[in-house]
Amino acid sequence: MLTHDAAREWIARWDRQQEGYMSDREERFTALIDAVEAIGRSDPLVIDLGCGPGSLSARLVERLPEATVVSVDADPLLLGLGRAAYPRLRFVSLDLRVPGWAGSLGLDRPADAAVSTTALHWISDSDLPKMYAELATVLRPGGLLLNGDHTETDDTTPVLARLERAVHERATERAFAGGRPENWHQWWDAVAADPALAELASARTTAGADHHGSESPLLSSHVTALRDAGFTEIGTLWQRGDDRLLCAVRG
Ligand SMILES: C[S@@+](CC[C@H](N)C(=O)[O-])C[C@H]1O[C@@H](n2cnc3c(N)ncnc32)[C@H](O)[C@@H]1O
Repeated sequence: MLTHDAAREWIARWDRQQEGYMSDREERFTALIDAVEAIGRSDPLVIDLGCGPGSLSARLVERLPEATVVSVDADPLLLGLGRAAYPRLRFVSLDLRVPGWAGSLGLDRPADAAVSTTALHWISDSDLPKMYAELATVLRPGGLLLNGDHTETDDTTPVLARLERAVHERATERAFAGGRPENWHQWWDAVAADPALAELASARTTAGADHHGSESPLLSSHVTALRDAGFTEIGTLWQRGDDRLLCAVRG
């Protein structure tokens, strides 16, 4: 039986694990939520794409208590942790690659923003345009897409792309000079060994989201797909090396 406290502990461990891949993860969350706040609504409707156990969603409602956050993921175990830890949030089990996902969110009004962290590189270049096109149908005109993820520019500015990776690697080495936190595989191995998570873990075998995207997605793939989906202004709001907070405004 998964308790609220145990779920919180697993999520705290998830956060440490994720920080091992981006030591500025909290700063990126803060910048993203600053942008949501700057929309100027105390009660924005926000969709969290690939929310995992809800780390970003939880920080959003902590800063903006009147916000409604709909947190979407396809992994039953991560959703189960989020539901046990954050009863205030609404978690929805959906695969962003399956057409119709946006209509299944059951929103009662167009969303003010869609946010995402370290998740959309799981969506392949061929699925990305369809995903953004569906997203545009549930965002209000002027609504924002805010995506914090590693994105590369080798196709347009290869020297800068190499330097961006170098900046990220140096920052990571400095941040973890005293030792790295556990990695993705170690976290999942530990989850598999916890009897309290056995039921949720077994559900993963049928519904878990496999990684179909790219470890190094191109920024240009996102920009092209967003433009084609009707987003107008597209640019970077925050950046550390190749880790960017990409913002796009729905036209
Ligand atoms: C590295 S985790 C990041 C989770 C969370 N956003 C965070 O920052 O902690 C990537 C997440 O994307 C989700 N994901 C990947 N592909 C997906 C898809 N096609 N549909 C829904 N969620 C997906 C995974 O299940 C996983 O929870």
